[in-house]
Amino acid sequence: MNECKNDEIIRFEEIASTNEYAKGLRKDKKNVIIVAKRQSGGKGTKGRSFSSEEGGLYLTKLEFYTDFLAKDSFLIMLNSAVSVCKTLHHFGLKPVIKWPNDIFVNGKKICGILIENTFTGNKIANSIVGIGLNVYNELPMELTEIATSMYLETGKKFSVSEVETKLVSELKQAHTIEDYRSFLGFMNKNITLILGDERIPATLLCVEDDGRLRASIDGQERVFSSAEVSVRI
Ligand code: BTN
Repeated sequence: MNECKNDEIIRFEEIASTNEYAKGLRKDKKNVIIVAKRQSGGKGTKGRSFSSEEGGLYLTKLEFYTDFLAKDSFLIMLNSAVSVCKTLHHFGLKPVIKWPNDIFVNGKKICGILIENTFTGNKIANSIVGIGLNVYNELPMELTEIATSMYLETGKKFSVSEVETKLVSELKQAHTIEDYRSFLGFMNKNITLILGDERIPATLLCVEDDGRLRASIDGQERVFSSAEVSVRI
């Protein structure tokens, strides 16, 4: 394992998972970013694995808070999703957010974000924001219909380190709900909501200021938190 510390960024040639590594650093109570060229056990949401071949950007930001109310946790999703979108936009792509924080280009997923928060009472003590962005990494065969990369979308082999520099600078900014809404995709579209074991046809209407999704189901409007439902396009 090739580890070297450079300012607040810890770099690896290969690691199992930058999110898992960040968990071991929580005891230090220090904000830090971890970047790996490859992951041998990349983690996705819902216990899935995340393909992490060389050529992608695999980055985790560990951040500590003193007074961050748990009810505002959507801000962490908002900030990471907008940071990725602004980064992709900077390199000439047209990203959209699939609520709450998947990033798509031309109908295919280009970036996944895995957020793992630690709560103390009604506050968030720290967050681990893991971002996997397909730059020019090869995608597994089974994902070619549903996933894409910056290379596949533009034909250009962008430098992973330039993409990282832009993303890190965006992650340091505070983005707004207006920024988030400006990148929001799939609104007024017929999609499927996954609610436990149920699959419900719905139309997405908007995202409320607190991050909940408003959708229309059989003509009735309902509002959902990201813990309750996921969106299948
Ligand atoms: C998803 O399922 O869409 C979320 C994928 C998140 C992947 C990133 S890559 C960097 C960080 N380390 C991990 O093991 N996972 C996240």
